[in-house]
Amino acid sequence: MPRIELKNVSKRFGKIVAVNTTNLTIEDGEYLSIVGPSGCGKTTLVKLISGVWESTEGQILIDGKDIANVPTEDRDLGYVFQGIELFPHMTVWENTTYAPRVKDWPDEELVKTGEDSLRLVNLLEMRETFPGQLSGGAQQKTGIARALATKAKLIILDEPLSALDARVRIDLRYELRRLVKRLGLTAIHVTHDQEEALSVADRTVVMKKGEIVEIGTPRQLYEKPRHIFTANFVGEGNFLEGSVKRMPGKWCQIELRNEQFLFVPPMDVTEGDALVLFTRPENLKFCKDFSTNSVPGEVREVQFMGSFLRYEVMLATDDPVLVDLPIQHERVYAGDRVMVEFNPIDTLVFERPPEGLREVLRLE
Ligand SMILES: Nc1ncnc2c1ncn2[C@@H]1O[C@H](COP(=O)(O)OP(=O)(O)O)[C@@H](O)[C@H]1O
Ligand SMILES: [Mg+2]
Repeated sequence: MPRIELKNVSKRFGKIVAVNTTNLTIEDGEYLSIVGPSGCGKTTLVKLISGVWESTEGQILIDGKDIANVPTEDRDLGYVFQGIELFPHMTVWENTTYAPRVKDWPDEELVKTGEDSLRLVNLLEMRETFPGQLSGGAQQKTGIARALATKAKLIILDEPLSALDARVRIDLRYELRRLVKRLGLTAIHVTHDQEEALSVADRTVVMKKGEIVEIGTPRQLYEKPRHIFTANFVGEGNFLEGSVKRMPGKWCQIELRNEQFLFVPPMDVTEGDALVLFTRPENLKFCKDFSTNSVPGEVREVQFMGSFLRYEVMLATDDPVLVDLPIQHERVYAGDRVMVEFNPIDTLVFERPPEGLREVLRLE
């Protein structure tokens, strides 16, 4: 049963540090997603686990055993490569049953596994087709079927859904999760799509520039991110810079730009500390009463999002914010002046990073 441990693992390509002194434990049976901007080291990390690359430093243990000298083919894992690498001269069936054939499984088992894997991705009727005649989506599904047909206990999926249409992508990610859970597999699912990362996983790893920024359950990362980068990368968010004005007891008063003030829950800070406030768009609303915990602003744009409306508001503090409200909400239009109410309970507070907020939020 695979439990994977990375201890101080680094991978350098010349001067490029693709993965920097990384520690990570993946539990047996866990569905782990890895998310982060393009180039942050996600693919490199899973290539180290699979043995495609050798790490420059550190140790990788599977079930307590150092696997440095175990070649990829003996690591008992199924791998769906980023950018689908199917064998072009083999049919869908031959691609899917590649591992069972190489490993010389009995015919009956090979056929059953191949059929089960293809049925799962809805490709059974395409079994005699060659990859060149398939759509990008069908190729990607073949790659998934091929990885499943290894019957390995660890499955590594590197951007496995990126070539699929939005609708299929959503359906298939739940299928993937269901399957992994049903078969008791351990899965590592790499994606740059934060929504996919959160919806599919038990735990999610957020990476930036070769390092793990934060690991948590999807809900922790969304509701209580510990880092500004996570708050920004995972879901939509609003950031306001301010400093501690005073702490009169129950709430702590924060001074924003242009003599605007908000209250947040009491914290371990002192007057004058530079902070960043963070809220999700669905936790803001409009109010009429000036005595509430609110900041005035002007609506710049209204977007129809299907199940809700998204208002882009420029606050008097010169901070742009998003406010998501139900459609039934009393209509507010671009150009209207509004009061934006902040719920102190849903407002997170971060120390203002010394390098500046913009720098921390940068994805590259
Ligand atoms: N074979 C390679 N040779 C040199 N640099 C590489 C190689 N593979 C990846 N890199 C570099 O390592 C960094 C991380 O890449 P990668 O792991 O592919 O990121 P991600 O999958 O998150 O987009 C990037 O700066 C990339 O250019
Ligand atoms: Mg990649």
